[in-house]
Amino acid sequence: MCGIVGYIGKRDSQDILIEGLKKLEYRGYDSAGIAVFTKNGLEVRKSIGRLANLEQKLDGQPLEGSVGIGHTRWATHGKPSDVNSHPHTDNSLKFSVVHNGIIENYLDLKDELIAKGCKFVSETDTEVISHLVADEYDGDIVKAVQRAVKRMRGAFALGVLTEFEPDRLVAVRFASPLVIGVGKGENFIGSDIPAILEHTRDVYILNDGEMAILTKNSVELMTIEGEFISKEIFHVDWDLETAEKAGYDHFMLKEIYEQPKAYRNTMMGRISDDGRSVVLKEIGMTAEQIRGIRKVHIVACGTAFHAGLVGKTIIEDLARIPVETDVASEYRYRSPIITPDTLVIVVSQSGETADTLAALREAKRNGARVLAITNVVGSSVAREADDVIITQAGPEIAVASTKAYTSQLIAFYLFGLYLAQTIGTRDTASVTEVLAAMNELPEQVERILDSAEVLKQIAESLAKHKNLFFIGRGVDFAVAQEGSLKLKEISYIHSEAYPAGELKHGTLALIEEGIPVISVITQEDLYEKTLSNIKEVKARGAHVLALVNAGNEEEVGKSVDELFSIPKTLPLLAPALSVVPLQLIAYYASLARGNDVDKPRNLAKSVTVE
Ligand code: F6R
Repeated sequence: MCGIVGYIGKRDSQDILIEGLKKLEYRGYDSAGIAVFTKNGLEVRKSIGRLANLEQKLDGQPLEGSVGIGHTRWATHGKPSDVNSHPHTDNSLKFSVVHNGIIENYLDLKDELIAKGCKFVSETDTEVISHLVADEYDGDIVKAVQRAVKRMRGAFALGVLTEFEPDRLVAVRFASPLVIGVGKGENFIGSDIPAILEHTRDVYILNDGEMAILTKNSVELMTIEGEFISKEIFHVDWDLETAEKAGYDHFMLKEIYEQPKAYRNTMMGRISDDGRSVVLKEIGMTAEQIRGIRKVHIVACGTAFHAGLVGKTIIEDLARIPVETDVASEYRYRSPIITPDTLVIVVSQSGETADTLAALREAKRNGARVLAITNVVGSSVAREADDVIITQAGPEIAVASTKAYTSQLIAFYLFGLYLAQTIGTRDTASVTEVLAAMNELPEQVERILDSAEVLKQIAESLAKHKNLFFIGRGVDFAVAQEGSLKLKEISYIHSEAYPAGELKHGTLALIEEGIPVISVITQEDLYEKTLSNIKEVKARGAHVLALVNAGNEEEVGKSVDELFSIPKTLPLLAPALSVVPLQLIAYYASLARGNDVDKPRNLAKSVTVE
């Protein structure tokens, strides 16, 4: 995700940049850096770790000057390290760039630039931009940036400085947020409003494909095609805390709404241009090794484990390899049968969960190859696994995981397809069909989010209950388990998730008048069966809410009390949609009960004890 900040004015920029970065640390915090025009030219300081490390460095070697850019990083390409930190420079050290986002075609651009003689020092996609801008420069930084960004594919917000034009700061936005702060005799850029709120409340919010050219006394806005535009100034009346949450009441809600972007970012650069295959350059396994996988173990905790349950269905369906799914704290104590032809997949948002890490080590000790699906580049899990797929969800702050879970599902879809296309269990037409449907998911999630008000009302009436049940069959049961956990952890309402067909073997005894039952019913081949189970609980007085595919409302509506319909997708992809209403129900139920949504009692974001 990353945070960028920039200043041009008459005050000393170092403190302004550092204070701005402090307000953006929630966007990423594995390293930080600043570049400032000093009397010696464009100088850069950067450091791995929290901002305090950079501050310490600057204490010894301050940067004096009134124009600068800064960055706090959430690694996407290249581990956290001093050299991978931003700002990045070109070989002449005359151009400096901070970047938030992902450059999808950076490897192609890098090859081209290397062929022209550029020397790269980092593993990042961003360094490509500084070389590219330098390469395009012929005396006008604005034109150079325009030419450079036209060659880049992906998502980016940029701040660019060149020593050749020290009175200009250029900023560009394309699918990553960027605001321009307007001051008196000084101007600012920031990834988010909090970065600049201390200095100005007047901002321009850039749209995709727009750029700003800042001097200390002016802000010019134009498209990346070079056409001047005018915009209304947005006057911010939020306090700092609201601004950090981008206007949302809680980080959890913000993160739920960030899911369309997280889906897009996790897919970005991993699907071939023709949309017919998955490209996972990060997987080091050869085709022969992949064909040699005889079984897969998926190991994780909590919500990540629930993503693993969906992952099992995905891999078995697409690649026809048998999959076992284990809770990490159980895995190594059950003496699992791990052979060299076992692929162990560990899933962890933080990459630091002690149980998951211990399971990973156990798997490696037994000779398995380990693939990690994690959200944190450079985390322990990422470092120790043989292969890593980074989910591009950006930092998740709320304790209850939402966008990390759904990004893990996207990673499983991509990996499942990758296995299938390599082994040959799915032909190109079938892979293309799934990828096309995956491309629709972000917009389909947006449609669900547009109906949040309906879910709020449902949640408010659920919040009065002490117990409730979630039921589903097949992959719907996996989603039901995640819905139940989400509700428990933040609303403190007791709930249980059951395979719909299993209720009659005991749990049905708990169904009594008025008890809420949430039924996930998206799998058409199990539809009739689940409907029978719904009738069983209805007959015993349950109040049933069904999550159904659009188009099935009428039929299911006859047997339930309430309905929420989700856009139609392929059955295998339904979890990426059906979980979203359940997240919102949990959120609004917690809110209705007056709980601390982002910090539920007894829980921590990262559990580093066994
Ligand atoms: C629940 C939740 C937890 C985590 C679990 C594993 O909302 O977030 O259940 O999923 O503690 O954490 P990671 O994914 O960091 O290994």
